[in-house]
Amino acid sequence: MSRQISSLLAIAAVCVTLAPAPAFAAPKKEAVDCAQVKCLALTFDDGPGKYAGTLLDTLKKHNAKATFFLEGQYVKSRPAYVKRMAAEGHELGNHSYSHPDFTKSGPATIKSEIQKTQDEVKKAAGVVPKLLRPPYGMADMKVADIAAQFDMPMILWTAGSKDWSSKNVEAIQKQTLAVAQQNGIILMHDWVKQTVDGMPSLIKTLQNKGYHLVTVSDIIKSENLEPGDIFPVPEGWEN
Ligand code: NI
Repeated sequence: MSRQISSLLAIAAVCVTLAPAPAFAAPKKEAVDCAQVKCLALTFDDGPGKYAGTLLDTLKKHNAKATFFLEGQYVKSRPAYVKRMAAEGHELGNHSYSHPDFTKSGPATIKSEIQKTQDEVKKAAGVVPKLLRPPYGMADMKVADIAAQFDMPMILWTAGSKDWSSKNVEAIQKQTLAVAQQNGIILMHDWVKQTVDGMPSLIKTLQNKGYHLVTVSDIIKSENLEPGDIFPVPEGWEN
């Protein structure tokens, strides 16, 4: 074989190696069945916070999905993060526009807080939230009725990371690992720098323990929640 031909073959081989994978070979979005595998939902409230971009980089790197319960006023001021959240497969939920306690608010205020946030999220990301997390996790039958009008169940959490009070990387990791459980929903905040700083090693540890980090909708699929339902049902909740 002449030198010229062999170097042409070498170039051809390089071209094949560098060619993008054909479309039919593209990996499908991993379908996780939480009835079969250990699932956990990390949820981030009150955002998008100013560290959301770093958090999104970490989630992407570790192929982890999260749910963001967004505050409309910050969706309005940081729409690019919200667009990215949706584009990267995370779930977007409604956490009011300005975080009032709904149990101490009138129906008109509650409706406007929810609607304004739905509108901002739609504007930013082209999707409409299907889950409501009332501010402070505070709800009553009046709030439930309004959630039902918006066709949304109310999602609380099974445990908190206590990140907003400890503001300490090790404490947040320790607490989260202590309360993580199959199909758990963990409350966190992307405005807490230490939460975002500790996320790479926390995600690695959770994944090493066999957790699939999924969205809230993945976790509640088997619950068949109706609009206005609350999950998990808080102690003393009367329906
Ligand atoms: Ni909140």
